[in-house]
Amino acid sequence: MAEERKDHLWKVAQEAEERIDDLMKTGASPMGLDVGTAKIVASRRKAKDIECAAQLNAFIPVPYSKFTETILGQNDIAYYREGGELVIYGTDTERFANMFNAEARRPMADGLLNPRETRAMPVLEAILTNLVPKPKVQGEILAFSVPAALPGREAALTYHEATLRGFFQGQGYKPVAINEGLSVIFSELEDNNFTGIGISCGGGMCNVTLAFLSIPSIMIGIGKGGDYIDSAVGAVVNEHATRVRIQKEEGIDLSRQPKDKFERAIRIYYEELVESLVDGLAKALSTAETLPRTDRPLPIVLSGGTAKPKGFKDLFEKALKGRALPIEVAEIRLAKDPLTATARGALIAAMYEK
Ligand SMILES: Nc1ncnc2c1ncn2[C@@H]1O[C@H](COP(=O)(O)OP(=O)(O)OP(=O)(O)O)[C@@H](O)[C@H]1O
Ligand SMILES: [Mg+2]
Repeated sequence: MAEERKDHLWKVAQEAEERIDDLMKTGASPMGLDVGTAKIVASRRKAKDIECAAQLNAFIPVPYSKFTETILGQNDIAYYREGGELVIYGTDTERFANMFNAEARRPMADGLLNPRETRAMPVLEAILTNLVPKPKVQGEILAFSVPAALPGREAALTYHEATLRGFFQGQGYKPVAINEGLSVIFSELEDNNFTGIGISCGGGMCNVTLAFLSIPSIMIGIGKGGDYIDSAVGAVVNEHATRVRIQKEEGIDLSRQPKDKFERAIRIYYEELVESLVDGLAKALSTAETLPRTDRPLPIVLSGGTAKPKGFKDLFEKALKGRALPIEVAEIRLAKDPLTATARGALIAAMYEK
């Protein structure tokens, strides 16, 4: 590891530690972490509440010059220096990309560390160090989300999980991996004895988990998420995926008729994504060797950034209707905060580990 980066990480870790010191009066505090393709969200307990902090999982390297470094410093932009480059990372990446009309890069793709990105782990480490201070108590529990394996990506998932585990261990934590769909169940279905279906529609993929009394019996991954929508829409309206994403996040409404080419394309790919999601769920349910018996219908909770637009739940309900499922579905609802549900659930899982 380059010396400059080490120094920088050390400084950032110290600052994060000081911030948390201000927040927590005393004692140990477990940590929940959603390591997502688009965003990393950390959550911890603050008095009786749960506090979340997020960073964009993105970066932009620029050539080093004293001048650029000064500008970054003056604008409070998070970066580290590595050899002849300055690597801007986290949420500041977006601000920088807008300023200089540059394309951001991502340490992760499709829910996992991106094997085509040489800087994946160093950047991820910088972002994680920014969000996760060293534990006060050695061996503190840190639960981090991992996706379900997409078909053919089982070995890549093992690598992803082991790499993260090693990093958190090095920071002094006792890391526990938790499936993303199960995290949603932990955060949203406590009142239902952690029984039901948790779905997270993220940037890189969708995760679906069915659990009875917190024990998962189905965990599947669907290889389409917000990134797929952005690039597919971008290709047909001739726009950069980033531009599509920004427009999409400004607020789309899936409950009304599309009124231009952009909205029509958004609807087409959203419908396709939801169809794949429901298809995957129906197939997994019908081929499951054993489904624990329950006389009560199962609730479904939808979460993740891709589930946020108005009308998403209706789209999902419509796609589910008419399918013969071997289970009875109770209510379908959106998570209270779709962007932090996974991190909150991971924290609850961490607290139960104690
Ligand atoms: N208001 C919004 N409307 C539509 N899409 C949104 C909105 N806010 C965020 N998104 C999209 O949600 C996705 C990110 O969601 P999320 O943060 O849940 O993903 P992630 O956990 O980082 O990824 P993954 O779980 O796939 O690894 C992105 O594609 C983003 O564009
Ligand atoms: Mg996610």
